[in-house]
Amino acid sequence: MKRKIIIDTDPGQDDAVAILLALASPDEIDVQGIVAVAGNVPLALNVKNALRVLELAGRPDVPVYAGCERPLRRRLVTAEHVHGDTGLDGPDLPEPSIRPQTQHGVDYLIDMIKTHAPGELTICALGPLTNLGMALAKAPEIAKRIGEIVLMGGGYFEGGNITPVAEFNIYVDPDAADIVFRSGVPIVVAPLDLSHMMQATPARLQRIRSLGNRAGQAVFEMLSFSERFDLKKYGTEGAPLHDPCVIAYLLQPNLFEGRRINVTIETGSELTMGMTVADYWGVTGRAHNCFFLRSGDAEGFYDLLTARLAKLP
Ligand code: RIB
Ligand code: CA
Repeated sequence: MKRKIIIDTDPGQDDAVAILLALASPDEIDVQGIVAVAGNVPLALNVKNALRVLELAGRPDVPVYAGCERPLRRRLVTAEHVHGDTGLDGPDLPEPSIRPQTQHGVDYLIDMIKTHAPGELTICALGPLTNLGMALAKAPEIAKRIGEIVLMGGGYFEGGNITPVAEFNIYVDPDAADIVFRSGVPIVVAPLDLSHMMQATPARLQRIRSLGNRAGQAVFEMLSFSERFDLKKYGTEGAPLHDPCVIAYLLQPNLFEGRRINVTIETGSELTMGMTVADYWGVTGRAHNCFFLRSGDAEGFYDLLTARLAKLP
């Protein structure tokens, strides 16, 4: 049964790879649309990058919507130091010839959730959760209609990446994340604990480059650019690969292990703002609100990613 998804994203090189992986898997995933959110770079650049990725994949038919251009409460924090000034530095992708839709991305999310059967839509959230938080605040009734939210965000054993305790997507908009995690919607979390296992080593990047197609070359150039910050920071052989974990989970969930736990978001203390307080050992008695992916098979993940990228132009 094909899974109908909407991708909410702040592309970003790793978001772009996740989008390509989804588009390369048409037998399992039907991408209904893409909603951009301010995050890695300001909104307008994320919209443009989403359009570029669709043209790279030969899929100008997928609609792109601009969502929120700033978090619900806090000022926007961006990550040009990782993703470059364009947000998609690395490959030289042409200016997009396709245009975004005119409807606001939050209204698109609400309309799509309301017009699809309950449970039919999966939301794949690859950036700050501002659009989803706003949609749930504007139309709380959609919570019981969303099939599942599969999101990249947070961390527990790995701590944080933008502060010692907070992961970027959650840190940028902790208030939106708090709305999402309290919404009652079924949630799967792909945290840093997982993505830090999925290291884009030189051998894995070369395998992708050796595909010889446009997508493989672009992914090689994207990740070769965005990895440099993490390689310096972590001193590992390969940089973590975050957002494609979300799509890989949809395609081959057996690659991953996790458990149902409670995750509560820090929205008060500046010291721990955006921390995903993950009750992994069940010490609080708080209701389980997500399936938290703790680990995964990195070789299997890259086998899947490489094999699917081969199917693109
Ligand atoms: O912390 C990693 C997350 O922040 C990824 O989604 C990356 O694209 C950035 O948005
Ligand atoms: Ca992202």
